[in-house]
Amino acid sequence: MRVVKSVSAMQRLALQWRRRGVRVSFVPTMGALHEGHLSLVRRARKLAGTKGLVVVSIYVNPTQFGPAEDLRRYPRDFNRDSELCREAGADFVFFPTDTEMYPGKSEGRYSTYVVEENLSRAMEGEARPTHFRGVTTVVAKLFNIVLPDIAVFGAKDFQQATVIQRMVSDLNFPVKIVVAPTVRERDGLAMSSRNRYLDEQQRAQAPVLWRAIQHAQKKVVAAKRLLDAEKLRSELKKLIEQQPTARVDYVHFFDPQTFMAAPKATRGTHLAMAVFVGKTRLIDNAPL
Ligand code: PAJ
Repeated sequence: MRVVKSVSAMQRLALQWRRRGVRVSFVPTMGALHEGHLSLVRRARKLAGTKGLVVVSIYVNPTQFGPAEDLRRYPRDFNRDSELCREAGADFVFFPTDTEMYPGKSEGRYSTYVVEENLSRAMEGEARPTHFRGVTTVVAKLFNIVLPDIAVFGAKDFQQATVIQRMVSDLNFPVKIVVAPTVRERDGLAMSSRNRYLDEQQRAQAPVLWRAIQHAQKKVVAAKRLLDAEKLRSELKKLIEQQPTARVDYVHFFDPQTFMAAPKATRGTHLAMAVFVGKTRLIDNAPL
């Protein structure tokens, strides 16, 4: 496995691969890797086949963090991450610096962004107004640098994966997007780099997101009629906030294609939530 740090070296390699017809599958990450990320790398390995190549990027992208967010304290451990990438079957790790990715930004010489204007407005976009602009911009840049045939994203960040799919289709990126299932801890907590911010007491409360999702899934299966989304939302909020340090940011029922709010919850309606456990904001989602 090779580590590439410069944009020009990465792009040169990518152009060679493309000319030779080598299939490239790509997993963009911000590092602090866990089993969720590694499941994407393994999936990318399978998709690339024996003759193809797997590239993982590790880059904590500043443009997707709000001014009051955790950019500075976001966990970083490159040596551990690159070893995990190697074990999971990566051939290349792209590990650029901020000056490589956004040259001249601090002097005001970076001024181009990619903005998805519809699906990125609700939920995470409402809570974090500049977040998806940063995500679409960095993913578009990474696609131009790595030139992948396939890129693998996690269902854990369902809205992100959907926004990226829309960007790829709207802007004609020649990349196939694959969305892989959410990997969970044994108690149901979705794996996330941010879980390490939880203290022992908060960690014990955090599986309540998954319990709330399962509760909604069971209710929908058992219901004779369509359920009122507003009522179900209050019920889930109550269930979640029984945990002493848990506070709901949003619980949203919506159509997974259009992201339009669903007034009724039924099979196929998508449920997504963001919950503060202490100061840590956790997200989770699933189809009902
Ligand atoms: P990051 O949070 O590091 O996640 C990288 C990829 O791993 C994303 O596609 C995310 O959905 C996936 N992932 C995270 N936890 C997962 C889990 N428990 N199960 C399955 N997949 C999981 O998402 C980002 O980074 C950034 O926004 C990025 C796309 C890299 C752009 O900067």
